[in-house]
Amino acid sequence: MRQLTLKPAMEKVAVEIDRHFDLLLEVPDDARRVLYEAMRHAAIGGGKRLRPLLVCAACDLFHVDRDAAMRVAVAIECIHVYSLIHDDLPCMDDDDIRRGKPTVHKAFDEAAAVLAGDALHAVAFEILADEATSADPFVRIELVAELARASGPGGMAGGQMMDLAAETESFDLSTVTRLQQLKTGALIGFCLEAGAIMGRVPPEGRGRLRGYARDIGLAFQIVDDILDVEGDAGATGKAVGKDAAAGKATFVSLLGVDRARQQAEMLVSQAVSHLSNFGAEADLLRAVADYIIERDR
Ligand code: IPE
Ligand code: IPE
Ligand code: MG
Ligand code: MG
Ligand code: MG
Repeated sequence: MRQLTLKPAMEKVAVEIDRHFDLLLEVPDDARRVLYEAMRHAAIGGGKRLRPLLVCAACDLFHVDRDAAMRVAVAIECIHVYSLIHDDLPCMDDDDIRRGKPTVHKAFDEAAAVLAGDALHAVAFEILADEATSADPFVRIELVAELARASGPGGMAGGQMMDLAAETESFDLSTVTRLQQLKTGALIGFCLEAGAIMGRVPPEGRGRLRGYARDIGLAFQIVDDILDVEGDAGATGKAVGKDAAAGKATFVSLLGVDRARQQAEMLVSQAVSHLSNFGAEADLLRAVADYIIERDR
């Protein structure tokens, strides 16, 4: 039943995100052409668009205007795409394929990939700071501050640094949990937080959504690590077997696939239990939680 909600919602968001990026990243007729083409290559066509879907689903709980919600959804996807472009660089994971296409540094070059990431990072904040996102400057500044926090040294970038260290240092389970909360959980957490900000839910009313976000964020990265071991490159659209080859500490390397999967399943049911005070309006969030462990890409 829940899955009936998911597929059309995912497809709708995917179409909308592509359309927004197409308009946003119009290629100029000057020497910046390659930068825009590199941004378009990374941002348009492909990806599950899970973070935009989470923003829209969270905004729906509070009846936020769809156009405004989509702007926030595009902003978080800009940050996510930037993080992928840089994650794939030779100095990080050195990957050739992303979303079933050559990575940006392969299709273009490393300088274009660095700059496309930088530019998408900036565009995200430009979108949030614009009055079209919210007429209320307090809402805009809270979105900007939360996205900065989730992306920076206390969020994604910090987690990426820990992730590189996980190749050479012997991390225990609590350190890997912290690493994953930063590198993946923080941006997923922003999606739910943004729904509450746009819906004018005060911080003290956000506990359940934060609990949901924390649990699905961790489950999402555990499944990413499982797919790196058991997944199929054709389905995931990226190389597999990379973590073990790099000797990286992950939930899978520490617990084995079966216990890692049990952990992800436990987290997903815990995530859903955080939504118990919501009615049918949270069915899409419930469906997303289920999808996170069932996915093959
Ligand atoms: C991949 O994210 C990187 C991680 C944080 C695990 P996704 O699995 O959401 O990648 P796309 O957006 O669908 O390509
Ligand atoms: C990357 O994690 C997380 C980011 C912040 C980009 P991974 O390195 O595991 O992501 P994949 O497996 O390359 O998508
Ligand atoms: Mg990585
Ligand atoms: Mg990677
Ligand atoms: Mg991975």
